[in-house]
Amino acid sequence: MKHQQGWAGLYAFKVDRGGDAPLFRQIYAQMREAILSRALQAGSKLPSSRELAARLAVSRTAVVAAYEQLLAEGYVTGRIGAGTYIAADLPEPFAGTAPRQRKRLPPAARAMAAPVHRAQDTVDVTFHSEYRPFNLGRTLLDARTIELWRKLTARSLRTLDIEHLGYSDPQGAFALRKHVCDYLRAARAVRCEPEQIVITGGTQHAIDLVIRTFGDGDRDVWVEDPGYPLTRLALTAAGARVHPVPVDDRGIDVGAGKRLAPRARAAFVTPSHQFPTGVQLAMSRRLELLAWAREAGAWIVEDDYASEFRYGGRPLASLQGLDDGERVIYVGTLNKALFPGLRLGYAVLPPALVRPFATARYLMDRQPATLCQAVVTDFMAEGHFASHIRRMRTAYQDQRDALVAALRRRLGDHLTVDAPDQGMHLVAWLRRGLSDVAIEKAAREQGVIVRAMSRMYVAAPARSALMFGFSGYSRQSIGPAVAKLARVFEG
Ligand SMILES: Cc1ncc(COP(=O)(O)O)c(C=O)c1O
Repeated sequence: MKHQQGWAGLYAFKVDRGGDAPLFRQIYAQMREAILSRALQAGSKLPSSRELAARLAVSRTAVVAAYEQLLAEGYVTGRIGAGTYIAADLPEPFAGTAPRQRKRLPPAARAMAAPVHRAQDTVDVTFHSEYRPFNLGRTLLDARTIELWRKLTARSLRTLDIEHLGYSDPQGAFALRKHVCDYLRAARAVRCEPEQIVITGGTQHAIDLVIRTFGDGDRDVWVEDPGYPLTRLALTAAGARVHPVPVDDRGIDVGAGKRLAPRARAAFVTPSHQFPTGVQLAMSRRLELLAWAREAGAWIVEDDYASEFRYGGRPLASLQGLDDGERVIYVGTLNKALFPGLRLGYAVLPPALVRPFATARYLMDRQPATLCQAVVTDFMAEGHFASHIRRMRTAYQDQRDALVAALRRRLGDHLTVDAPDQGMHLVAWLRRGLSDVAIEKAAREQGVIVRAMSRMYVAAPARSALMFGFSGYSRQSIGPAVAKLARVFEG
């Protein structure tokens, strides 16, 4: 009886001759649905393809193709033409009372399903970098770089070397590591050899590889407070015990860190341009941090993001360059020096960590993509990287100056602007009583993106300030955007 009802259901299949999907797909999809929902009984015999084709007024070929697909996927058994049966061994369909998927998520996945920022965060600009002033993290490419990029990419594709087509070194192309190494020695006084470098997808990838290399998620680690949320969140997601260590105008307070977690496994820091405050880690603190790391057997992860863009004064060399105890993992990114979509960066590892780190990388995704590496290698080898940085440094400095001037002129009564001598964003401190989160929200409604700095704090008392990215926006676009923001304060 059930059998007959099932067939009645089959004969009632709808086929849309003018539809996008081919007829056999339409029949296949409806039949699969009927089998899975048990509208067609397991083990029962299907009508012949000829019979079904006649009932549905379609060609027999379409029905045979649908049956063949179902046969290949295991929904039916037998031989087309000699009797086709619905598989008898399919599991029962899901009961409507099955627990919802969400409840069954493991704790780490549940943590990652939560909004990336803190509860009051209504504006999540983390997953994509919308191109609107003054969103953080955007970069500019001028016509010259774009043209070169096209040329070098076309050249790589034309030659398409055999080495691009296979598996290669998980540490990345040696030629690229050599250029990165030369650059880091000269520009950042990093002590390195190409053998110590692993090309990564950028800072975030490097942080994740550090976490995987250490493996034991439940260890204590220091992060800066306020600090870079994505480092903290990556650590939290991995189950580390994260200790937010306060930052003052001399950088991370190493003494406080020692009191909070003296035996921590690692400290994640941004010494040359603290994110988000922009302060430099004072020399006495650098030495204190290194001494602690040596004594505690801890690692220091130095995130030297955006150090290419320094506008005045001499930069403090990298922390890694001071490290004769080889406790520092130096992490840099090309996603800021060039553009975030590039997804290339590097880590310079103490010799003992090179192999474990490279293995962690191999187990994660084997190797960096070869073609992008080839383009960047040529870009560096031919001197374009150095000149791109020089041109962008001038442009960003000009944009910074335009932004500082516009903010002081239009909003000087409401905020105090720090003009940073490095980096791609600035911080404007709000006059007492103004909520950065409220301004962030209202500004967004006006089409202007400013980031509330209070979101970057964890345990330290949050200060109300706005963060403005200035690297991605031409000088001409800055004035009008500040004018729109001024309306938020005035309205
Ligand atoms: C503190 C800090 N480090 C590193 C990066 C760069 O990250 P990635 O290389 O993953 O793009 C950023 C970007 O916003 C940052 O703010």
